Amino acid sequence: MSHGRSRRHFLALGAAGTVWRSFFPARSFGSSSSALSLPATTGVAGPVKIDANENPYGPSEKAVEAIQRSFSRAGRYASNTPELHRALCDHHQVDPGMLELGYGSSELLKMAAEAFLGPDKNVVTAQPTYEAPSRYGSVYGATTIRVPLDAAYCFDLKKMRAATNDKTGMVYICNPNNPTATVVSAEALRAFVDSMPPEVPIVVDEAYHHYVDDAAYASAISLAKQGKAVVVTRTFSKIYGMAGLRLGYAVGRADLIGRMTTYKVWLNTNTLTVAAAIASLEDKEFVERNRKLNASARKLVEQQVTRMGLGYIPSQANFLMIDLKRDMGPVVGALRARNVFAGRPFHPLRHHLRVTVGTMDEMKRFVEELRAVTT
Ligand SMILES: Cc1ncc(COP(=O)(O)O)c(C=O)c1O
Repeated sequence: MSHGRSRRHFLALGAAGTVWRSFFPARSFGSSSSALSLPATTGVAGPVKIDANENPYGPSEKAVEAIQRSFSRAGRYASNTPELHRALCDHHQVDPGMLELGYGSSELLKMAAEAFLGPDKNVVTAQPTYEAPSRYGSVYGATTIRVPLDAAYCFDLKKMRAATNDKTGMVYICNPNNPTATVVSAEALRAFVDSMPPEVPIVVDEAYHHYVDDAAYASAISLAKQGKAVVVTRTFSKIYGMAGLRLGYAVGRADLIGRMTTYKVWLNTNTLTVAAAIASLEDKEFVERNRKLNASARKLVEQQVTRMGLGYIPSQANFLMIDLKRDMGPVVGALRARNVFAGRPFHPLRHHLRVTVGTMDEMKRFVEELRAVTT
């Protein structure tokens, strides 16, 4: 890089860094580009929105058709909710009392915080991980015990076990973890659950379950079925492409689900979303197609960032942590200035940029812009 270019480049990054700071208020979480009123669909020439781990392909066609067919029932409260509840219980082979629906898995995580946390009940989790449960807990006076990830950016379950105490109201494990896209193996999770006091609920967030291909991983739903103090949260926002429609559910031991249900918003589901979810569950091909599209676009990014001399954390999800080998803030700002919306800070990983896997074309554009702002 010539001296002149390097100075221009530095100034551009500096200005972009200012832009970046204005986009990340200290306590924001969730979609950070929502204030930008992006168009609903992003072409490759337009803005590329890869910052909220959404599915770029949207809902299944069958889900869209089901929504269209349900419009005529929109004037009534949702009467198809029991049908979805039954379908999900069949899908997971659980008794009705083991499953609760929510307005996104966010509502279930909030219900868990309300049921299990409080001024005398802390939550033990990792850092960095998805912040919502501890944020909800803090509203009710709960403290969060944050245990750093291990050297492979995975949940350090041994240290988390050691960090639990008689004031622990809940453990939160995000599997795969957001933002690192790493998984806890089935064996490690079982050993952890067995080592815990039986009265402490362990909430396992499996929002990205369908993207995992590591054979050592398994859903924790089987542990709940065996009577362990486990609640698993799932969502229709990711593989099913329904983030804007809002639907999630929890599967767990019936007494724990019962305690959570006390805090549920009445009439928390809507007719159109429920119809879309029922249709999505039946569309197995859609899930498989999304998994494959995600894997190939993710691979392209992995190859290209390696060529750029950057690193990445091997991913089991629809997002990837790229090791920029420099502060991520100015790079995020520079990308934003080029209409590419990626990343947000995940303390203490200052050098990592979390990128959602978009379409192949979106990822080609991302790679081009990343190359332009980092070389
Ligand atoms: C790990 C994790 N859990 C839960 C959620 C919230 O999902 P939902 O749309 O189901 O509320 C997200 C959203 O990105 C997430 O990353």
